[in-house]
Formats: sequence, C-alpha cells, structure tokens
Amino acid sequence: MKGVVLAGGLGTRLHPLTKVTNKHLLPVYDKPMVYYPLECLVNAGINEVMLVTGGSSAGDFLRLLGNGKELGLRRLHYAYQEGEGGIADALNLAEDFADGDKIVVVLGDNIIERNIRSATADYFSQREGAKIILKEVPDPERFGVPEIDGDRIVSIEEKPKAPKSRYAVIGIYFYDGRVFEIIKTLKPSGRGELEITDVNNAYIEAGTMTYEVLDGWWTDAGTFESLHRASNMVAEGGANRLD
Ligand code: G1P
Repeated sequence: MKGVVLAGGLGTRLHPLTKVTNKHLLPVYDKPMVYYPLECLVNAGINEVMLVTGGSSAGDFLRLLGNGKELGLRRLHYAYQEGEGGIADALNLAEDFADGDKIVVVLGDNIIERNIRSATADYFSQREGAKIILKEVPDPERFGVPEIDGDRIVSIEEKPKAPKSRYAVIGIYFYDGRVFEIIKTLKPSGRGELEITDVNNAYIEAGTMTYEVLDGWWTDAGTFESLHRASNMVAEGGANRLD
C-alpha cells in the first residue's frame, strides 16, 4: 500500500500566518505540521509516499523533506497542484503514482495521538472499496459528518448545519484504484472544490465503504483555535504514539 499526503490549499483561515508560507510548514509545537501526517504513514508501515502541494512555497517542502529518508521513508514523490481545486482534485494528481494499488490518503493538517496500524491492516485485507475513520467531536458541523445506521454509514454531509451524528470523518482515508474513476465524475461544490465527501459518498452508494472509530485524540490544525489546540496536545502527550 502507498501513501498520499495532501498539503496544498491557500490556508486562508490562518491569514496572516499563511500569507508568505504554506499552512503545512507552520510549527505544531516542535515540528513543522507536515511531519505529523508523514510520521503517521511511516508508523503504519507505509514508506512510499507522494506529497501533493502547490502555491509559491512548494519548493520549501523539497528543502525541508528532501527524499524523505530522515523521516523513515523509502521514497518521497512530489506533485504540484495548480489552482484551488480542493482535496479530491489534489488527490487526482496521485493517479500515476498509485498505479492501481490501494492507497492511504492523509490530509496534511490532521494530527492523531496514536496510530492507524490496525485500520491499515483491516483495509489491507478488505477485498475492495474504501474505509474511513470517525471520531466523536463537540463541533461536528465543522467537518464531514456521517449518518450511521448500526454498522453501516448511510451518507456523509459536508459541514452540515444540523449534523446527523456527533462524529467527524477525519482526514485519513483508504481507497482502492477506483477512486480516480470516481474523482473524474465529480462536480465542484458550492465552495468551488471537488469534495472528498463526494468521493466517500460514491463508495457508500456502491456498498463498499467500511469505517472504524479512532482510538486517542485527533485534531485538524487549519484554524487558529485548532492550530493552538494541536500544539498543546502534542506538547502534553506527543502525537503518533505506537503504544
Ligand atoms: C476536510 C474535509 C472534511 C473533513 C476534514 C477533516 O475539511 O472536507 O470532510 O472532515 O477535512 O480535517 P476542510 O478542512 O477542507 O474544511
């Protein structure tokens, strides 16, 4: 299985911090933000990764990460996203890299306390389809929110005003080779982006989506409040723990 880290976007919710740099290069306690999703993949045994970024600071990722060896990667590939097409548009750039294999996609501003080893193993033995990870949160309206019926997800709504559960769909997704066919059928959402939630809903409609609930804390780091929280959580107990 290969990994993809999505680290593009304008980071407008963090202006002026992101006026002259990319959000994923900002510090989260003692490391640049992008280290955390990369470490998360390495911990899950995934050592061949593509980083998708864009904008005028794209070259800084190469200076920071090089070929990924220091982080324990066997190889780090790069892709450049032009414009602001959204998460699914960024993922589309990894099609040749994935080359039909299963992939784990991690959003560059998502940080977890523990690891995704068991989810990765479970997905490895899943015959086809996709897998998402959920976490109960106090503010689900900020995220993709699933409607759950027993062990089945009925659908996911992106940033709903009236959330149908207390869960967020976190930014770690497992996909098979079909994901790129699905992306090609998507239409831009109200915010003008190809939404990862629409990709996930296509798998749900096909009946090939599984999910699990994350152990340990999870946070994004794309707003002042969540960036601050992320730094505090990492400082207090560390992220990407293996125990
Ligand atoms: C994105 C996804 C959302 C998901 C979130 C996790 O939101 O669209 O479904 O719950 O990441 O961090 P964004 O941060 O782009 O608003």
